[in-house]
Amino acid sequence: MRFTGDKKTVWIGTNWKMNKGPAEAVAAARALAAFRPPEGVRTFVNPPFTSLKDVSAVLQDSPMIVGAQNMFWEDRGAWTGEISAPMIAECGASMVVIGHSERRQHFGETDWTVNLKVRAALKHGLRPLVCIGDTLDEFEFGVSQETLARQAKIALHGLSQEDFARVLIAYEPVWAIGAAGRPAEAPFVSQIHTKLRAVMQDITGPDSTVRIPLLYGGSVSQANIRDYVALPDVDGVLIGRAGWEPADFMKLIDSVSTLVSARVDA
Ligand code: PGA
Repeated sequence: MRFTGDKKTVWIGTNWKMNKGPAEAVAAARALAAFRPPEGVRTFVNPPFTSLKDVSAVLQDSPMIVGAQNMFWEDRGAWTGEISAPMIAECGASMVVIGHSERRQHFGETDWTVNLKVRAALKHGLRPLVCIGDTLDEFEFGVSQETLARQAKIALHGLSQEDFARVLIAYEPVWAIGAAGRPAEAPFVSQIHTKLRAVMQDITGPDSTVRIPLLYGGSVSQANIRDYVALPDVDGVLIGRAGWEPADFMKLIDSVSTLVSARVDA
């Protein structure tokens, strides 16, 4: 099985957002350390910066990948409050979420800064998980696809084939995220992802064999995870609050095992 770009690999991760201080984060990591995902599933967790090093140490020998939730594009310097890619890598993390809608919405991140961060992450060996998403207005005006194509094209601008092979994309409709969000209907996600697959081919080039994994995120729960993972162009899910409790997260991962084995056998 190839490490990335494989049709049969399903990615399932949870972003803890601004939850869990160091003690709680380590306890949660310990609860996840012995967990073995079903064959074909790659799992990851995104703790806050303050516990990145400790959580990475606890999960060092487990299949659980550890990733940061954000980063700055410069390596070092007078950037008060920022964290760089080399710092994240030194903590033992190998992934980083870039351009989450909460960063775009509340902290002024733009497609341009997302691209700077993606390039810096790749330069330092981190795997970027780039979030793209349409707002409710864009969804209602019927321009979701245009928004997503623009975000993806700018985010991945200037990357090499080698770089593409290390990138993950998460489609996260802004209107579907959080307690006030409503999960996107599976047929809608299917349609979006199939079109996004074509956009990815456009970005990587007509001759490229790289298949960038496309995850779905936004109110994923025990009630709907199988509906999303069953879709042919969905390569996994990015889970928020439904995955914060380790027991719930492991249950969510286990619940897709029969779907994944069908992919593995296909
Ligand atoms: P949610 O968050 O699952 O709590 O809606 C998803 C996300 O922001 O990635």
